[in-house]
Amino acid sequence: MIPPQPLGKLVAVASGKGGVGKTWFAITLAHALARAGRNILLFDADLGLANIDIQLGLTPARDVASLLAGRSAWAETVIHHDGGFDILPGRSGSGSLAALEESILEQLLALLQTQAPHYDHILLDLGAGLDRTQRRLAAATDTLLVIVTEEPTALTDAYAVIKLHQQDSPRHDVRVVVNQASGKQNGERTFTTLARACAHFLKQTPALAGIVRRDDRVRDAIRRQTLLLTRHPASPAATDVESLAAHV
Ligand SMILES: Nc1ncnc2c1ncn2[C@@H]1O[C@H](COP(=O)(O)OP(=O)(O)O)[C@@H](O)[C@H]1O
Ligand SMILES: [Mg+2]
Repeated sequence: MIPPQPLGKLVAVASGKGGVGKTWFAITLAHALARAGRNILLFDADLGLANIDIQLGLTPARDVASLLAGRSAWAETVIHHDGGFDILPGRSGSGSLAALEESILEQLLALLQTQAPHYDHILLDLGAGLDRTQRRLAAATDTLLVIVTEEPTALTDAYAVIKLHQQDSPRHDVRVVVNQASGKQNGERTFTTLARACAHFLKQTPALAGIVRRDDRVRDAIRRQTLLLTRHPASPAATDVESLAAHV
């Protein structure tokens, strides 16, 4: 886990526990980076429980499964969102993929590599925890952003994810985002607790990517299926994600 450097091209957004705000954060980071002029692809890689489409009120006709099966082409599968970034949906009305066969997974990774030159960053919203598929995806990225909250279980589960990931990519760039923080100081305390456990047991310390405060307007934006940075641009969580994006 090397010190902060520019965000890699392939970025995985992961968490131990579900419900910490991973999908919302991935969407909002994609939007913030797009607003800063970067070319972004957001891939809904939470294949079993894909829900970027729901948070944004999209009803994709095609998805990564139809793409991999050769039933749809890249240009007809990827959605260009008004927020200024592209989305590769993880599922459409036709259902979803839970786990991918090894060969299809490698095909997916090759596809992302083919598209990589067209983007500044490709963000992957991974499923909670790290199953075999998610582990392989995480290992193929350049930067792992681990989302954690102040809840003790979120912290222990985030530690477990960092530990598993270290086995796959010992020198990987791992950074922590504390989301739903009750304040900057409490968020920093949460990060320090996690970083100390990593330093002690894993002999590697993740970097702090940033702290995002708990903010009711996040829920409001999700309920209205809109982007927080459009709906509530001056809210605490919006400000936090924008400043985080400006530093990566
Ligand atoms: N910074 C925040 N402040 C307040 N609520 C948040 C924040 N981030 C996430 N949430 C809440 O957490 C819920 C779960 O978010 P989601 O992105 O679906 O999580 P995950 O992908 O980790 O399961 C959202 O519906 C939202 O209400
Ligand atoms: Mg999610």
